[in-house]
Amino acid sequence: MNTGVADIPAAVRAQFFARVVAWQRAYGRHDLPWQGTRDPYRVWLSEIMLQQTQVRTVLGYYARFLQRFPTVQALADASLDEVLALWSGLGYYSRARHLHACARVVVAQYGGRFPAGAEALATLPGIGTSTAAAIAAFCFGERRSILDGNVRRVLSRVLADAGDPARAAAQRGLWAAAQALVPPEAAPDDMAAYTQGLMDLGATVCTRSRPRCDACPVAALCAGRASGDPTAWPRRAPRAARRTEAWCLPLYQRADGAWWLQRRPPRGIWAGLWAPPVLAAAEGLASWLQDHPGVRADWPAAFTHALTHRDLRLQPVVCRLPCGSDASTAPSAPGVEPDQGAWCLPSEALALGLPAPVRVWLQNLASDSRISSSR
Ligand code: ADE
Repeated sequence: MNTGVADIPAAVRAQFFARVVAWQRAYGRHDLPWQGTRDPYRVWLSEIMLQQTQVRTVLGYYARFLQRFPTVQALADASLDEVLALWSGLGYYSRARHLHACARVVVAQYGGRFPAGAEALATLPGIGTSTAAAIAAFCFGERRSILDGNVRRVLSRVLADAGDPARAAAQRGLWAAAQALVPPEAAPDDMAAYTQGLMDLGATVCTRSRPRCDACPVAALCAGRASGDPTAWPRRAPRAARRTEAWCLPLYQRADGAWWLQRRPPRGIWAGLWAPPVLAAAEGLASWLQDHPGVRADWPAAFTHALTHRDLRLQPVVCRLPCGSDASTAPSAPGVEPDQGAWCLPSEALALGLPAPVRVWLQNLASDSRISSSR
């Protein structure tokens, strides 16, 4: 059975909303930096950063972003590279590209003011249905339910929803149920507490593997708890096996210390970020190096970088080109795409949007070379 609106028990319909609101006011989180404001810019920025990312990771990024971009106009005026550089390390970089595109749309089409309703918000780049509902509830008191991953878990337990979360029909059923739990007469002021309450419940009480039902305001209404094992929900879709992909990253270095970096294609892993060329195998590079004995190659240990759906096995290789190789043009070497790249001095490279493991590697190289040149 998929939970539909008609399947919601009367007690849940009557009590769920009010219990969550009262619990949030008494026990929920109240001192996060994006609370206590109704400024859609600040709320939007926090909601985008918090997608798939924990509060404690977001805190520093949020403060730095607001300091550098205090308004949506400031963000729209910035270059995408600067936004990506400030985002570096938060992951899921398409969020940063959408953030920048959204700021530009808000400035160009809405005079710098976010539209005041979930429907219009959801048409903007990077704002999905749940994020639009969160912004509308927090800033405008709109009677809209959110349904992010945490809330899906809470509701599927409360309703003992048997739907397969990977299926669109089950997702539609849960959306309808979520919206049906918001009373049509709900006070606008209660919508912020309710929305935050759902998030707080999912993050702190109704956790994935150890729900604290004794601390839960809706335990008495929860069919999952009544079953004796709330962790049996949500029903898990079978997971695809995790794959490992091996990448060799030759970092070509000129005699003046500049590195050859290329912008990654607009789709796929590290989309739009700057990185050394990527080779699917190290063999081609090894035989090129044999043919070019003037290039001094250094092969640090390979390491694994985990992405959401796969592991990357990264083999960095520093290739120091001999003096006198043509300093102005792209090197003619494996993986180099002259139109996509540029020579960057270390300080210039570190100001670009770099994937997190590449940033760590380049930072270490830059500080190693500072140490050896000061010796
Ligand atoms: N996750 C998504 N939105 C959030 C918020 N406003 N507060 C805390 N965690 C969140």
